[in-house]
Amino acid sequence: MIELVQTPAIAQGLRKVETRIRRLGGSSELAGINDGAGRIITAGGKRLRPAMTLAASLALGKSPDRRVITAAACVEMIHAGSLIHDDLMDGARQRRGTATLNAELGAGKALVIGDFMLARAALAAITAVSRPVAEVLAATAVELAEGQFQETNDLYDARRTRESAIRSITGKTAALFRASCLVAAVCAHASPEDRARMAAYGERFGLIFQILDDLLDLTASSRTLGKPAGNDLRQGVYSLPLLLSDADVRHLLGPGMTDEQVTEVLERLRASRMTATTLEYCRGLAADAVAALPVIHDEEIARVLYGLPTAYIDHAMELTMAS
Ligand code: FPP
Ligand code: MG
Repeated sequence: MIELVQTPAIAQGLRKVETRIRRLGGSSELAGINDGAGRIITAGGKRLRPAMTLAASLALGKSPDRRVITAAACVEMIHAGSLIHDDLMDGARQRRGTATLNAELGAGKALVIGDFMLARAALAAITAVSRPVAEVLAATAVELAEGQFQETNDLYDARRTRESAIRSITGKTAALFRASCLVAAVCAHASPEDRARMAAYGERFGLIFQILDDLLDLTASSRTLGKPAGNDLRQGVYSLPLLLSDADVRHLLGPGMTDEQVTEVLERLRASRMTATTLEYCRGLAADAVAALPVIHDEEIARVLYGLPTAYIDHAMELTMAS
């Protein structure tokens, strides 16, 4: 993961993406919107999605031009906007170790700053990239909303199936990773087969990303996470790792759980085979991801993209062990 963003050609592109994101996030006539959007943009974040856009572009033999840079910035804007909405829905007070916009400015302002970021990304995509890329991003925003709705619909549902959990994370998270690779393939005028291959790689990686995020919510300490551990349990999310666990804790979840109850569920899950089964599941997805990759002539980019899914799994394993 670190290798991805540090690869020279990608790091160079990311600096331009950063400038573009900040310009887009600061493009309102209203200083209050620019301040709010700027706060979430500068609060950190790994810039993993735009890095994947740049890597996919280089993998397909296209050195990232202005359009690719803007497409990558649009992907990150959609991501940041959706996090503002997610924190609002969750009533979250902290993200990345800093106060959320809803905690700082209230629900109404956070809502419209999130709207602004999504709309601004759509406008940039149509005016400064291309109609096909704007279509990919609009369709992805639809999937994000549907995936998030599905998760909300399943809250505290002890009968939630693994299939339902997978459908939800495919929409709310994997779709944007898929899009981050696909927009690069569209900009590169890649063949339909190469577009499908890059998209499939992004989607598989996105699934791994979300499943590991969900696993860490149940296995890592609050200090490691920069937000309270066991958040999903408190919010009634029966995440895939929980559903893959052999410990039956479903009946223990409910609204208004005390800290002691959350700790008990976490202890049972940590003592179960949950981590091993989840990591095994992710390794299967990693194999699918690399099998989907098209032929890549740039050796360095090939090495980074082939290694990324496994590197991410190893990173999550280390965080679990360190907690
Ligand atoms: C974070 O996941 C949330 C998402 C990946 C998706 C959020 C999507 C929406 C709010 C739908 C609206 C978006 C658009 C584009 C209209 P998480 O809650 O599992 O992760 P966390 O632990 O970091 O909060
Ligand atoms: Mg959340």
